[in-house]
Amino acid sequence: MPPEDITKVQELIYTTPVESVMAKDVIVADLSMTMVQVKQLMREKRISGMPVVDGDRMVGIISISDLIKALENGLIDRPVVELMTTNVQTVFKDSYVAEVVNSLGPRGFGRIPVLDRDGRLVGIVTTGTVIQNLLRQMDISFKKKEEEKLQKYRASHIFDDIVSDDTCLVLRFVVNDKDFDNAGKASSQIKKSLQRLGMQPALVRRVSVAVYEAEINLVIHTDVGGEMIARIRRDRIQISAVDHGPGIEDVEQVLKPGFSTAPQWIRDMGFGAGMGLANIKRCSDSMRLLSEFGGGTRLDILFLLRDHPVGPLSVSGKNS
Ligand SMILES: Nc1ncnc2c1ncn2[C@@H]1O[C@H](COP(=O)(O)OP(=O)(O)O)[C@@H](O)[C@H]1O
Ligand SMILES: [Mg+2]
Repeated sequence: MPPEDITKVQELIYTTPVESVMAKDVIVADLSMTMVQVKQLMREKRISGMPVVDGDRMVGIISISDLIKALENGLIDRPVVELMTTNVQTVFKDSYVAEVVNSLGPRGFGRIPVLDRDGRLVGIVTTGTVIQNLLRQMDISFKKKEEEKLQKYRASHIFDDIVSDDTCLVLRFVVNDKDFDNAGKASSQIKKSLQRLGMQPALVRRVSVAVYEAEINLVIHTDVGGEMIARIRRDRIQISAVDHGPGIEDVEQVLKPGFSTAPQWIRDMGFGAGMGLANIKRCSDSMRLLSEFGGGTRLDILFLLRDHPVGPLSVSGKNS
C-alpha cells in the first residue's frame, strides 16, 4: 500500500469519533444473573463476551474465557458478579477511534464498552464494528470526492465556454441579524463555488476569510440583517456586504484594528475582537467602507486574479 493510503486511514481514525464506529444495541448481562444464564445468553446471541450492568451503569465485563474458568472450577452456578472482570478498559463516545484501535484485536481486548460523559453505557466497539464503519466512511468520503471532482470540472470551464465581453456570475445571500445558527453559511457557499470554479486555493482562502468577517459583521452589527453579493468574473471577484442600519458613526475609527462596539454578550460568544475589518483589508486587494449613521452601510471588497490581468472592458473595482 503506498504511504498516502496509510495516511488517509490514519487521518480517518484520528478524526472519527468512537460514537460513529460503535454498536449501539449492546447485549448485556444483568448483575443478578448466574454464569449458567450468561452461558445461555452468549450461545443464543452468538457473542463471546458482554458488559455486566446494574441499571444503566456498567459494573464489569464477562467473557467466554471467564466462562471456561467457571466450568473448570465448578463455579457455573455462581452469580456473574463473582467471576466478572471489574477493571474494564472503557472509552468515551466523543473520543477518537485512534484511542482504541491499538487496544483491540488478538493481543488486546475483544470489546471495549463505550460510555457517555455521565458514565452511562451507550455502546460497544469491537474490531468488527470499527472495520465495518470505517470502510463505510471511506466509501462515503470517496464518493464525495468523486462528486466534487465532477462538479469542479463542470464549473471550472464556465468562463471559457460562455463567451461574452464581460461574463459575471452573481451570487446573492440574505444574512439575518443575530442569526448565529446560520452565521458563516453564505461565506462557506461562496468558498465552495470558488473551489468549483477551479480558483487558486490561496485566493480562495483570502476570499473566505474576508467574506466570513463581512458576513459576521452583518450578523452582529446590523438591526435588520443585510445581504452579501459576490460578483465573480474571470479577472476579479467583488464582494459587497450591504445593510440598512444602524450605520456607523465614525468610519475612520471602526477601521482601526482592535476597535469594536460589540456588546459583552457577543464577546462572550467569541466575536467582537475588533479585527474583522483589519483582516478584510489584509486579505483583499482593496476595500471600501461607506456608511451613513442612522442609515445603511456598504462594504465593498475587491480581489484581483493574478493570472488574469484586468481586461480593457472591466470597470475599476472602486466604482462598480
Ligand atoms: N455593517 C455594520 N453596521 C454597523 N456597524 C458596523 C458594521 N460593520 C462593522 N461595524 C462597526 O465596525 C466595528 C469594527 O468591526 P470589526 O473590525 O469587524 O470588529 P468586530 O466585528 O469584532 O467588532 C464594529 O464593532 C462595529 O462598530
Ligand atoms: Mg467583525
